Formats: sequence, structure tokens, C-alpha cells
Amino acid sequence: MYRDSSTSSIVLFGPPGAGKGTQAGNISRVTGKPQVSTGDMLRAAVKEGSQLGIEAKEYMDAGLLVPDKIIIGLISERMAQDDASQGVLFDGFPRTIAQAEELSEITEISMVIMILVPDEEIVERIVGRRMDPETGQIYHVKFNPAPLDIASRLVQRKDDTEDTVRSRLNAYHSQTKPLSNWYKENETVNSALRVISIDGRGSIEQVSALIEKELES
Ligand code: AP5
Repeated sequence: MYRDSSTSSIVLFGPPGAGKGTQAGNISRVTGKPQVSTGDMLRAAVKEGSQLGIEAKEYMDAGLLVPDKIIIGLISERMAQDDASQGVLFDGFPRTIAQAEELSEITEISMVIMILVPDEEIVERIVGRRMDPETGQIYHVKFNPAPLDIASRLVQRKDDTEDTVRSRLNAYHSQTKPLSNWYKENETVNSALRVISIDGRGSIEQVSALIEKELES
């Protein structure tokens, strides 16, 4: 069983649609670290209609990264909350080297879990994704269908179109992917950091099992 009594945090890293949100609940349960998703926080701000949400929406709808300054502000506020004191599971953050550098000033990172899925599979995963607005549960029309009794209330994210996915993938390759080498280089000089690569191409259950095996080793 995974045991981590430290106050360090975990980063869940990967391209859009790799399965970060799908796997986060289980990792959170196993590690005891609360999930902190910048995507979810930004969508909540957009829904609220706050100034931050209005500013972020433009970038999100276009499949672009929201400026680092906004994201760092959100994370700093979130990390000041009580439940973050024993470290958290970051989902979709950091996404640029600048964000990772700022993060290293806020909390220690003990593990980076990289879920790797090729671009061709990403598009099908994202376009078929559906969300339950009541529970936040993530489904897929083909790979993870929702129970029939809730099917009518499912929604599709506004940025889950084929065009926007292409922009998100471009942003991933140009701004986020370089972070994987940045963390691997950090691992060579920081013995407290472990970077794990997970093949995300299997079923949801197979990917969960691969991650749990790594967490327990
Ligand atoms: P965000 O919400 O973080 O989106 P993302 O990173 O693009 O990730 P997704 O939520 O699309 O995918 P996921 O990996 O969680 O996959 P999921 O588990 O849902 O960010 C949205 C936007 O906010 C960004 O574009 C940006 O504008 C902004 N933003 C957020 N954070 C930011 C930051 N730090 N800096 C700057 N801007 C930021 O799975 C996808 C689908 O696949 C689901 O339908 C699921 O059922 C299915 N699935 C999952 N696993 C499998 C499997 N193994 N096999 C088959 N299907 C699977």
C-alpha cells in the first residue's frame, strides 16, 4: 500500500484527453492527496462569471493556455487552504516551465506521473467525452458509457470539438511537453523526486493498474 506521510505533492502530467481526470480520483484515494485541477477551477470561474473567468474563457475556448500569471494566482490561493497542507495531486498543472518553476517555490514535488497517449487516440477520446454536471464524473460515448438513467443530463465541454482539440494539442507540444524533460533532468539532481511514465493506451482499468503498481513500488 502506498504510504506518504510527507507534505510533498504529486503532478499528474499528460496531453489533453490522456486520462488525467479519469485517473485522478483513484490516485487521490490511494495517496490521500486531494485533487487540484486547474481546468476544473477555471471552468468554475467561467461559470461564476468572475473577472478571472471572463479573462480565462477566451483562451480556453480557443484551446490556448491561460497566461501563467492567472494560473499561479489560482494555485497560490488554493495551496493556502487547509486541505492542501499535506500536499495535493495536481491535475493539468504545471503546463509550462515557468509554472513549474513557480510551483517549486510553493510546494515540494515528490512524484510526476506522466500518462502518455499518441495524438491519433486523443482526438477520439476528447470528441466522445461527456461529463455529468451533477457529479463531475467523466464518461465516454464509446470507451466508458454512462448509465442509461443519467444519459440525458450529460453535457459536452465547449472546448471538446475536433478543431479546438488540434489547438490544444499544439499548445501541449510547444509549451507543455518540454516540461517532461525538465522534470527528468530535475530527477537526476533531486533524489526526492520520482518521474514515472505510464503507457496510457490501454483500457481505463489497465492504466489504473499500471499507476497503482508504480505507486506501490
Ligand atoms: P483541462 O481541463 O486541464 O484540459 P486538458 O489538459 O486538455 O485535459 P482534459 O481534461 O481534456 O483531459 P484528461 O487528461 O483529464 O482526460 P479525461 O480523463 O477527461 O484544461 C482545459 C483548458 O483550461 C486548457 O485548454 C487551458 O486553456 C486551460 N488550462 C487548464 N490548466 C491550465 C494551466 N495549468 N495553464 C494554462 N492553461 C490551463 O479523459 C478524456 C476522455 O477519454 C474521457 O471521455 C474518458 O472517459 C476517456 N478515457 C480516459 N482514459 C481512457 C482510456 N484509458 N481508454 C479510453 N478512453 C479513456
